[in-house]
Amino acid sequence: MSLLEEKVILVTGGSRGIGRATVLEAAAQGADVAIIYRANTAEAEQVAAEVTALGVSARTYACDVAEAEQVKALIEQVIADFGQLDIVVNNAGIARDKLLIAMSEEDFDAVIATNLKGAFNVAKAAASKMIRKRTGVIINISSIVGQHGNAGQANYAAAKAGLIGMTQSIAKELAGRNVRCCAVAPGFIETDMTAGLSEQLQEKMLAEIPLARLGQPEDIARAVVWLASDQAAYITGITLTVDGGMTI
Ligand code: NAI
Repeated sequence: MSLLEEKVILVTGGSRGIGRATVLEAAAQGADVAIIYRANTAEAEQVAAEVTALGVSARTYACDVAEAEQVKALIEQVIADFGQLDIVVNNAGIARDKLLIAMSEEDFDAVIATNLKGAFNVAKAAASKMIRKRTGVIINISSIVGQHGNAGQANYAAAKAGLIGMTQSIAKELAGRNVRCCAVAPGFIETDMTAGLSEQLQEKMLAEIPLARLGQPEDIARAVVWLASDQAAYITGITLTVDGGMTI
């Protein structure tokens, strides 16, 4: 039996990068998928078509996760469309990198609003449904930067560290209702988010990775799907690092 048979999974930022890979892996493991995207409808529809080709259902929804009212309406709509919601993956994220003294208040607030408050909005709206059904899984995509910090990413590191504390708190609150909450902390993954970094910096990162390759979106997707599956039924509150050994 496939890992996510008869489950419905919602993935924010599901139209590209790690989110897209998670959508496709979940679909390959039998889940029906709600693909949440912010602006690029064509990209999201393309992923939905790839999912449908795997023989499961997909729907796309435009939603800014930073907006609580949009998120509440989104969760209602997904449940109306699919009849259930078993797993949410808080993957949507942005970076606005600057050294501390050059970082504007706006750069700080924008990253917190999407990366941290966005996950709070989705987790809160989904949890209120999951606790009634006494089943559900919330996965938050953090980062090794949230565990170790990184020069130029005070805003991003704060958001990603915040997600780890939030994950532990949610896990403790909801365990009694059989709702699990875990985080995944990716290392350096080749996506649009990291494509802009200089070749020199990418070479430097590679030299620090014991498994001697940059991570691929699928490396994260497989970890997320496994953690979300019943194979991980006794695991909650953890942060699973997936970084090729970079932070050993
Ligand atoms: P990406 O930039 O390729 O994709 C991010 C997705 O989030 C996009 O689909 C974007 O439209 C969506 N998004 C952004 N703001 C949104 C909002 N307000 N509402 C709804 N959707 C929104 O990035 P990537 O690399 O795939 O990253 C995915 C997640 O993984 C992010 O949370 C990122 O911080 C995290 N991560 C990435 C790493 C990497 O090396 N690429 C390393 C560690 C964590």
